[in-house]
Amino acid sequence: MSEVITVHEVGLRDGLQNQPRVVPTEGKLRLLDALLDAGLQSIEAASFVSPKAVPQMADAAEIFANLPQDRGVGYEALVPNEKGYERAVDAGVTTVALVLAATDTFNRRNINMSLDEAIRVNEAVIRRAKADGIRARSYLSVVAACPYEGVVPPETVFDLAARMFDAGADELALGDSTGAGSPPQMAHLFETLAHRYGPERLAGHFHDTRAMGLTLTWVAIECGIRKFDSSIGGLGGCPFAPGATGNLATEDLVFMATEAGFETGIDVGGLRRAVAVAEELTGQTLGGRITPFLDSREKRRAAN
Ligand code: COA
Ligand code: ZN
Repeated sequence: MSEVITVHEVGLRDGLQNQPRVVPTEGKLRLLDALLDAGLQSIEAASFVSPKAVPQMADAAEIFANLPQDRGVGYEALVPNEKGYERAVDAGVTTVALVLAATDTFNRRNINMSLDEAIRVNEAVIRRAKADGIRARSYLSVVAACPYEGVVPPETVFDLAARMFDAGADELALGDSTGAGSPPQMAHLFETLAHRYGPERLAGHFHDTRAMGLTLTWVAIECGIRKFDSSIGGLGGCPFAPGATGNLATEDLVFMATEAGFETGIDVGGLRRAVAVAEELTGQTLGGRITPFLDSREKRRAAN
C-alpha cells in the first residue's frame, strides 16, 4: 500500500482573504462543494479575525453553520486572539489554527501585537483549546525570511516551536509565507523539528512566490513530513506581506505527490473544476503550473 500525503486546503481562508472582490457566503460554499467533490478531506474554511482588518472573512460563523457534516471532512478555522477563539467555539469549530509570525514587525503588521504579546496570546488560546477538547494547530509564519526584518535565524523558529508545543499545540505548520525559503534552510528547520517532535506533528505551508513551492515540499517529504497546505488554483497572497503571492497550488501538489507514488485521495480533474469555480467567484485567472498541461490533456482526450 502506498503512503498517504494529506493535503490541507487553505484556499477558502489564505486564498480568499486577500481578494479585493468580496465573495458571498453562497459562493464560498459552492467552492467548498467543488473541493469536496474533488476529494479534499482537510479544509481551513474561514478565519475569525476582525472584519475591519479582513472584510472577506466577516461571514466565518455563517460558513461554519453551513458546512456539510456528512462527508467525514476535517474543518479548521484560524483565530488570532481570544475573541476569535470564542467566536469560533460558538460557531462549532473543533480545530483552531493559531498564527504566530517569527518576527516582531510581522506580528505588529498582521495582528497588531508585539512578538512577546503574540506568544502569550497564542499560548493562552492553545491552553484554553486543550482544556475545552479543541484541537490546536499552530502556524509559525515567515519562518525563512520576514519582508520587514530579513532572514530569520533558525534558533528563533526552534524557540517559538518549543513554546507552542509546550503550550499544548497538536500540530505545527511551518509557513514560508512570502516564498522566501531556500532548500537547505527549510531542510534544516524540518530536519531539526522532525527529530525533536516527530514528523507527524509537522506540516509545510509554502507560498509559490519564487516557484519554490514544490521543491520545498520535496525537501520536507525527505524529512518525513506528510502534510502540506495548498490553495486551489494558487489563490492567495497575504494582505500583510508585501509581494507575497498565492499558496502552492493544490493541483500542483496533488499531481506531484501522485507522480511520486503517494496516495492523496484527490482527483486532479475535480480540482480543475474547482479552479473554474474559484475563477468565476474572484474574477481572477487562476491555476497552478500544471493547468495548461491538464487542459491540453483534456482536449486530447475529448478529441479521441
Ligand atoms: N474577531 C472579531 N472582532 C474582533 C476580534 C476578532 N477575532 N478581535 C478583536 N475584535 C474587535 C474588538 O472587539 C474591537 O471591536 P470594537 O472596535 O467594536 O470595540 C476591535 O476589533 C479592536 O479590538 P483590538 O483587540 O484592539 O484589536 P486590534 O485592532 O488590535 O486588531 C486583530 C487585532 C488580531 C483583531 C486584527 O489585527 C486581526 O483580525 N488581524 C487578522 C489579520 C489576518 O487575518 N491576517 C491573515 C491571517 S494570518
Ligand atoms: Zn499562507
